[in-house]
Amino acid sequence: MNKLFVIGNWKMNPLSLKKAKGLFDSIKRDFKSVKKTKKVEVILCPPFVYLATLGISSSARRKASYGGLVIGSQNCFLEEKGAFTGEISALMLKNLGCKYVIIGHSERRKYFQETDAMINKKLKIALRIGLIPILCIDKISQIKNGMKEILGKDIKKIIVAYEPIWAIGTGKACGYKEAKEFNVLMKKVLGKNHPTLYGGSVNSKNASGYIKESGFHGLLIGGASLKPKEFLKIIKLMVEQF
Ligand code: PGA
Repeated sequence: MNKLFVIGNWKMNPLSLKKAKGLFDSIKRDFKSVKKTKKVEVILCPPFVYLATLGISSSARRKASYGGLVIGSQNCFLEEKGAFTGEISALMLKNLGCKYVIIGHSERRKYFQETDAMINKKLKIALRIGLIPILCIDKISQIKNGMKEILGKDIKKIIVAYEPIWAIGTGKACGYKEAKEFNVLMKKVLGKNHPTLYGGSVNSKNASGYIKESGFHGLLIGGASLKPKEFLKIIKLMVEQF
């Protein structure tokens, strides 16, 4: 079986550094009790402003001194450097110790008018500088459009997350059968062993089914990743799959 990914997308939460530290520490503390396996990668994606202050650095990442948790960011800009007020370069994130970057989340597409062409630029930059992209989609066409001109060996590095918009933050998770049908379509485009994830109202009660019944390689989790106990339950369920 392929590696499983458990990704916590904190979105624009929590609202103070103190609370962010509290959340990070409590996940880190509980994570110590989880049986370690290289087959499950747990990735936390806090807001940009907390990345450096949570004690994340490339040396810490190399030593895995924050207990095997890996860090990603929720977005990056579509240019690597230059005069772009208010933006964050993928290279800055890489230099800070991030390993992954979420690209094309539906909230970015909706509220920041991100198009497939912009997402394509972001994917290319992330790949060029060595961040692993987690591409979010809710339509099959977004895979090919987002990956335009990206070579096969690089396409293999992109993790693709199916997140039906209506399931995000609504408590109405997608049924396993429906999710599986979409997963099959994704695999037709990407190849049968390509890592695909499900996201949208995942919790500890529905998490396992997306792996066992729908055939995904992991989960992208919003709301439940802000509740350490619930998030840890999901991690434990993933570890038990092996
Ligand atoms: P949710 O968010 O788990 O709160 O539905 C998922 C996401 O937006 O990545």
